[in-house]
Amino acid sequence: MDVKLRPWPEFGRRTPTVMACINGRAPAVGPSCRPRGGDAVAAALEAAIADRGLKLRFKVAYCLSACTRGPNVMIDLCRSRFLEVQPEDVPELLDIVERHLAER
Ligand code: FES
Repeated sequence: MDVKLRPWPEFGRRTPTVMACINGRAPAVGPSCRPRGGDAVAAALEAAIADRGLKLRFKVAYCLSACTRGPNVMIDLCRSRFLEVQPEDVPELLDIVERHLAER
């Protein structure tokens, strides 16, 4: 997993959303997240957010504009990115997100 963190702005009352790309394209058309495991990452992320009881929304996305580095996850309000994520990276990913939430 490669992490590209950006400063987290004041969110006010808004709840950050974690977006996981599950877009799938035919290989002849171009790279995409689903053939690299995007569905498994999305499922692991959604379950882990619920298990931890985090104040985060989760939604799937259909392209986060980093198709060659998928599966990709992005935090909407700060646009921090997690690239080439695998399901086993989800605990570390959420540890990072939790640390940032605690620092706000
Ligand atoms: S297909 Fe996932 S980032 Fe574009």
